[in-house]
Amino acid sequence: MNSKSTLWQSLEAQAQDSQQSRIDTLFDENPQRFNQYSIRINNLLLDYSKNLISDQTMQLLLDLAKSSEVELWREKMFSGEKINVTEQRAVLHTALRSMGAGSKVYVDSTNIMDEVSFELKKMENLTKSVHAGEWKGYSGKPIKDIVNIGIGGSNLGPQMVTEALSKYQMNDINVHYISNVDSQQIAQVLRPLNPEQVLFIVSSKTFTTKETLTNAKTARNWLLAYSFDESSVDKHFVAVTANQEAAIDFGIAPQNIYHMWDWVGGRFSLWSAIGLPIALHIGFDNFVELLKGARDMDNHFRTTPLETNAPVILALVGIWNNTFMGSQAQAILPYNQCLHMFSAYLQQAEMESNGKSVNREGEHIPYHTGGTIWGQLGINGQHAFYQFLHQGTSIVPADFIAAVENPTAAKGHQEYLMANLFAQTQALMTGISEEQVREELNAKSLPQEAIDKLAAHKVHQGNRPSNTILMDKVSPRNLGALIALYEHKIFVQGIIWEICSFDQWGVELGKQLANNLLPQLDAANEVEAQDSSTMGLIGFYKDMRKN
Ligand code: F6P
Repeated sequence: MNSKSTLWQSLEAQAQDSQQSRIDTLFDENPQRFNQYSIRINNLLLDYSKNLISDQTMQLLLDLAKSSEVELWREKMFSGEKINVTEQRAVLHTALRSMGAGSKVYVDSTNIMDEVSFELKKMENLTKSVHAGEWKGYSGKPIKDIVNIGIGGSNLGPQMVTEALSKYQMNDINVHYISNVDSQQIAQVLRPLNPEQVLFIVSSKTFTTKETLTNAKTARNWLLAYSFDESSVDKHFVAVTANQEAAIDFGIAPQNIYHMWDWVGGRFSLWSAIGLPIALHIGFDNFVELLKGARDMDNHFRTTPLETNAPVILALVGIWNNTFMGSQAQAILPYNQCLHMFSAYLQQAEMESNGKSVNREGEHIPYHTGGTIWGQLGINGQHAFYQFLHQGTSIVPADFIAAVENPTAAKGHQEYLMANLFAQTQALMTGISEEQVREELNAKSLPQEAIDKLAAHKVHQGNRPSNTILMDKVSPRNLGALIALYEHKIFVQGIIWEICSFDQWGVELGKQLANNLLPQLDAANEVEAQDSSTMGLIGFYKDMRKN
C-alpha cells in the first residue's frame, strides 16, 4: 500500500487522534461494543473490542484492505496463482485440507487434488498399520514410539499440534521430536527407547537441512548398532519430502517416502504428510478433523465479507496496532496448557512470513511490517513478564487464547484460570489511575507520606489493547480452525504490507556463513582472517576444545 496515499495519511491522522482517546471510554460510549466488535465462527469466538479502534478507524482499515485488493489476492492464492513471486511458486496449503469434494486446483496445468488425495491415503494406510500393530520392526515387534526428525516448519507445527491434542492420543503410540543439532537432544530422546519398536520420520521439505540430516544419520547409526542389519532401515525409517532423490540417496526406501510439494511452505505444511506424526499420535480420523477445522476457516475466509471476516479483522487490528500505533511486538498468551507451544509455533509462522523490509518489487518499505511475536502460557507469564505488559514503557498488544472446557476435571482450576484471563484483558484496558490508587491507600489508613511515595508506582496507565479468542474446547476441529485463522491473518497482512510472505531469504546468509566457518573449527585448520570478534570467539572455542 502506498504510504503516500490519502487513505494511508488518514490512517496516520486517525492514529494521532486515537492516542488521545481510551478503550474503556469507547465501551462507556457504546454498550453494544462487544456485539459489534466480535465474530463467532462455529464454536470459536474472536473478541477484538478491547482495541483502541473506533467505527471510523475500522472503516478506514476496511478501506485499506479493499484498496490493497485483499479479495483479489485471496482468490489468486486459493486458485493456485504463483503469488510466491520470488520463488515463482503457488501457495496452496489450503488445497491440502479442501478434502477433495470433486474440486480441482491446477498448478502448471496439473490438477494437484489427485496427488493430495493419494498422499493422504498413504498417510492413512501407514497410520492404520502402525495402530493395528501390523507395521513391525526388524525383530518382528510392533511400533511403540515415533521419532520425528525435522526443524522449523518440519517440527514446530506437528509438535505444537501433538502437544495440544495429547488427550486424543491413540493406542499408546508415543511421539517424540528431535529438531536441535545439539546432540544432547537426540541422546535424551533415544535413551529410554527400544530400537526394535521405533519408527523414525525424517521430515524435511528440501532434504538439505543440515540439522535434520545430521540427526537422521545419528539415528540411523543408533538403529544399526542394535540391529546389525542395513535392511532394518526400511522397517524403521520413513521420510517426508519434496526432494525424493535426496531421500533415496540417504537410504530411505522409495515406498517409505511421503511426498510434499514446492507449493506448500514449510511453516504451512502440517496439513501435508509433514503432519504424519500428528496422525500417528491422534489417529487418522482425528487428523481429518483437524483438516476439516482448517477447511471451515478457509471457507469463512474465502466467502465472508471483509467486515465480518475473522482473519481479515485480526490482520487489520494487528496492522493498526503495529504500523499505525507504533507497537512493534505482539504477545501470544494461551490460557490452556494444551496450547503451550502455540506462541513458539506462531513465532515462525508470522516472523518468517512477514519479517521483511522490501516489497514484492524489491523496493524498500517505509513503514513497520511484522513485529516480534513472543509469549508463553499466560498464567505463567503473569508471574514473570506481565509487569512489563502492564507498566512497561512499550505497549505490546496481546492475543489471549483459551478454551471453555478443560480435559481434566480437577475442581476450581479452570475457573481460576479463566477468571485470570478475563481479569488481565480488563486490567490492561482500564488500568488504575493515581486518584484510584490514592483512594485505595487512604482506605488502608496509610500515612500521607507513604501514600505520596507509593502512588506513582502503583498506577497502571491501562489503554493497552488485546484480542481474546475463545473456543469450546481444544479439539482437532477447533485447533485446525485456530491455526488457519492465524495463517490467513498472516496472508492478509502480507498483502496489505505488499510483501512476499512465502519466502524466507533472511535465513540463508547465516546458513552460508556457518558452512564457511565449519571447517575452521577443526583443530587441523587455520582460522581465516576476518573480523576480530569472530576470530577471537573461534580462537577461544578451539583453545578450550583442545583441553
Ligand atoms: O531455514 C528455514 C527453513 O527453511 C524453514 O523455512 C523451514 O521450515 C525449515 O528451514 C526446515 O526446512 P526443511 O523442511 O526443508 O528441512
